[in-house]
Amino acid sequence: MGKECIRVGLVGAGTIGKGVVDLYKRNGDLINDRIDFAVTLAKVADQDHKRLQALDLDEKMLSTDAAEVLDDPEIDIVIELIGGIEPARSFIAQALENGKYVVTANKDMMARHGQELLALAREKNLNIFYEASVGGGIPLIRPLKHSLVADRVSRVLGIVNGTTNYIFTRMAQDDLSLEDALSEAQRLGFAEADPTNDIEGLDAAYKLVIMANLAFGKKADFDQVHIEGIKGVTYEDIAYAREIGYTIKLLAIGEDLPEGLALRIHPALVPMEHPLASVLNELNAVFIESEAAKELMFYGPGAGPMPTAAAILSDVVEAARCIRFNVSNGVVEGELQDTGFVPIGAVECRFYLRFLVEDRAGVFASLANAFADEGVSLDMVIQKRRVGNLAEVVLVTHEVREEAFHRALSKVTGITAIKPNPSIIRLLG
Ligand code: HSE
Repeated sequence: MGKECIRVGLVGAGTIGKGVVDLYKRNGDLINDRIDFAVTLAKVADQDHKRLQALDLDEKMLSTDAAEVLDDPEIDIVIELIGGIEPARSFIAQALENGKYVVTANKDMMARHGQELLALAREKNLNIFYEASVGGGIPLIRPLKHSLVADRVSRVLGIVNGTTNYIFTRMAQDDLSLEDALSEAQRLGFAEADPTNDIEGLDAAYKLVIMANLAFGKKADFDQVHIEGIKGVTYEDIAYAREIGYTIKLLAIGEDLPEGLALRIHPALVPMEHPLASVLNELNAVFIESEAAKELMFYGPGAGPMPTAAAILSDVVEAARCIRFNVSNGVVEGELQDTGFVPIGAVECRFYLRFLVEDRAGVFASLANAFADEGVSLDMVIQKRRVGNLAEVVLVTHEVREEAFHRALSKVTGITAIKPNPSIIRLLG
């Protein structure tokens, strides 16, 4: 048996850090009763002394110097909650070099540098736990790592960004514009003051890389993810999608195809009957398709201090158990396989298009011909309404290779009777 009292240090006392301290104060005794040994929060570091004071802890536990946690030989587990790449990456490496287990919620860093840090952890017979990096309070990393290790996952579909899901929900329910829905999300605290990474899809891309690594056992490269944010979607698109039986969601899609991994973030029309269609507001969900278990969905709060703190403290317990029971390395996360990547042009899917055309004879025929020339078959063509002296047309294709669709589209947009800048949204197939 290892140590009876495991000491934990926290670096970063922002919103999530404070959530961890609050939940530890509330449930620390419960945790210790459940695991039958002691896990103690020993030290918290943050550059900002005001944030430290807000934690309402004994002053002796507080420091403005991260090194006092990272280099303290009495600390067994370091929780990193400062976010971003540096100095978080160096802090984690330093903690591992000093023989400490690491718990982090840092998705940017795990997506970009997780593999090198996990290799260092393996070398040191330690581990990094990162349950809170994807889906906040939803158990996801542990199911992917443990429960599905004997299965073959073929596809991961995630609504992994609460801000954009809240925006689409409000646009759908109240015909709000994207800007108004975003302002409301910020007012209610669901969106960050600077929501650029959410709106542009980067936040979801980081989370997709982390999930794809574990789901497929292959090295998912962040730079190979095709990323489109939500700015091109209007409430008209959401309303028309609803008329044909779909809702619109920002999806993180990872597929393990014979040619390699296809990784993409983009808005998509999701059939109303698909379980992901019912994931509303700021909630997150991940839908997994696999050979043996078939279809699984993990659903819940993807952010927020308390759900995220619960995931972080569960990781602390996992690390503490490794130390207490001398299990070196925890559950082994083996080295991932190298893989190829499928470019977006080679991905096949259906497309929704909305555009304005001059309302005169022959326009539909030239449109249909332009698609037919590239072998793009149309499933649906609907004339929606008049906008001035133009007609608004909504069209849905059958499944088509993306590069063929774009060749057809450049012909379509070259027709003078068809106005430029159509709305284009993929359908979930
Ligand atoms: N900003 C993220 C979201 C939460 O809106 O889901 C943190 O990853």
